[in-house]
Amino acid sequence: MKVLGIYNIKGGVGKTSVSVNLSYLSSLDGNRTLLWDLDPQGSSSFFYDKELCVHTSLKRIIKGKVDLSDVVTDTDYQNLDIIPSDFSYRHIENLLEQAKKSKKRIKEALKSLKDEYDYVFLDCPPGISILAENIFHACDYILIPTVPTPLCLRTYDQIISYMKDDELKSTEVIPFFSMVEVRKSVHQNLMKELALKMPNLCTTFIPFMADIEKMGIYKKPIEDFMPNSKASNSFKGLWKEIVKKNLKHTLITNTKITSASSF
Ligand SMILES: Nc1ncnc2c1ncn2[C@@H]1O[C@H](COP(=O)(O)OP(=O)(O)OP(=O)(O)O)[C@@H](O)[C@H]1O
Ligand SMILES: [Mg+2]
Repeated sequence: MKVLGIYNIKGGVGKTSVSVNLSYLSSLDGNRTLLWDLDPQGSSSFFYDKELCVHTSLKRIIKGKVDLSDVVTDTDYQNLDIIPSDFSYRHIENLLEQAKKSKKRIKEALKSLKDEYDYVFLDCPPGISILAENIFHACDYILIPTVPTPLCLRTYDQIISYMKDDELKSTEVIPFFSMVEVRKSVHQNLMKELALKMPNLCTTFIPFMADIEKMGIYKKPIEDFMPNSKASNSFKGLWKEIVKKNLKHTLITNTKITSASSF
């Protein structure tokens, strides 16, 4: 099971849109996929029309008193489940602060699902706090949607230095550009410059497109209501690239294990 967190300190950069679309594309590939909506805004839950499907209190999840598989809800799609959020998720920071091993509660909670899913996506709220630390510890990959503006790049640097301080060496950071307006020279220039400076940057980017807003009307991932559109193809390209990075990463990790065990 691989855990992918879609995270940024900044709000409104496309985290939820990416979480909803990539989780759907993962399920279409035949992967057993779970999306955990960790944001009290409940936007992912809204897009999958599962807002009112919360089965238990968040407190019991954080305290480890309930198995996550008991709170999973199925979606309208094969291979795709969701853990919806509700407004009680606004207390998540306090609940984590009070818990034992407070930085690793999300990781612990996910352990019971390790044989159930191939990919777990975490739709994260903005901010940098104990929840962010939990996300960093729980994830194999942190996908960082980055709008090519100076402020957004500043937050990217903040995330990287924060993760270095916490010695999160096994978590791989995958930045990609989001909400790109190619006609804006600031976007164009920053993208060129940063392609050389951001290690592991995806070459695929998500353009700014009005069609992406339509997800809120249809309450579906783009590929379902606008297959093969420009919007849907950009998410497909991104997913393809992430899968490739995962394969490469897994291969490198396995090679390390093989060579170590041969001694
Ligand atoms: N590539 C895009 N082009 C145009 N609009 C987009 C794009 N991605 C997202 N949006 C729209 O921008 C708004 C914010 O997107 P989204 O909710 O995905 O961001 P977020 O980072 O999850 O926000 P938050 O931090 O509030 O959780 C939404 O109305 C969404 O429909
Ligand atoms: Mg969101």
